[in-house]
Amino acid sequence: MPDARTWRRLLLTGAAGEIGSVLRPALRGAATSIRLHDIRPVADVAPGEEAMQGDIALPEVARAAMEGVDCVIHLAGIPRETGGTPEEILHANVIGAHTVFAAAREAGVTRLIFASSNHTIGFHPADRPVGTEERPRPSGLYGASKVWGEALGRLHADKYGMQVACLRIGAFRAKPGNARELGGWISHRDMAQLARRCVEAPDFHFLVLYGVSANTRAKWGGDEAARARIGFVPQDDAEQFAAELERNAPPPGSVAARFHGGSVCELDFRGDPDRIS
Ligand SMILES: NC(=O)c1ccc[n+]([C@@H]2O[C@H](COP(=O)([O-])OP(=O)(O)OC[C@H]3O[C@@H](n4cnc5c(N)ncnc54)[C@H](O)[C@@H]3O)[C@@H](O)[C@H]2O)c1
Repeated sequence: MPDARTWRRLLLTGAAGEIGSVLRPALRGAATSIRLHDIRPVADVAPGEEAMQGDIALPEVARAAMEGVDCVIHLAGIPRETGGTPEEILHANVIGAHTVFAAAREAGVTRLIFASSNHTIGFHPADRPVGTEERPRPSGLYGASKVWGEALGRLHADKYGMQVACLRIGAFRAKPGNARELGGWISHRDMAQLARRCVEAPDFHFLVLYGVSANTRAKWGGDEAARARIGFVPQDDAEQFAAELERNAPPPGSVAARFHGGSVCELDFRGDPDRIS
């Protein structure tokens, strides 16, 4: 691979959150300075880091956060379907993504890495694998908000020349928590590697990658070229937890079992699963 990029200032939004807290140490040295942004206070700011606080969905806050920045990892938002009201998801994830991309564009940011989700493809039937070229089929409003973010990413790559990587993150945890996550888990160290590789990779245009470990039961793919392009080689495999987790699989034939989005597809489900092919 050609020489890795080093950035002047990297902005990490959502830095006080679960993923942000794991990425912080992994990103040290990837930029001359790292700006940690969150609506909550960010703890234990280290040398080479600076902290900023505010609602990133507000244009003036996003503009201030982007000053002097050439690379962004945008994690801030509501991270799950049940994490807020529809209005809160719209504000943080839909308005927030728009505000962040617009401010990045105005500031001349070169590269933006967007935390998308596997829930962009949730209603694809689980009996066959899903790649990155199929149409979006969100598991719920949260997944739809991430489809919007990916569309903004595509727009900013094609129209404005920004380098954009969308990471369809699976289940980010210290260890997988249920049978579905035997396929969709991403370990802390694989997530850290993925983010670092996206930051350091040589120039690219637009990438969509699944943020999952090297799971034996992985069912999301089609991103092999993108992985090779950035040099992402996950190290962990959820299979070591299979014996304890496969007992907790959803009942066969249930909505949770039939679709990639699992139990999130089942929330408030009023459709006819037999019509979903
Ligand atoms: N954790 C996962 O398994 C997972 C899976 C798929 C995608 N993701 C995505 O990754 C990102 C990070 O997830 P996480 O698990 O660390 O979530 P988290 O809730 O722990 O962290 C998100 C952070 O964003 C901040 N935030 C929310 N709204 C904000 C706003 N308007 N302005 C500024 N900051 C705001 C929160 O305070 C929080 O610290 C999210 O975008 C989430 O949708 C996470």
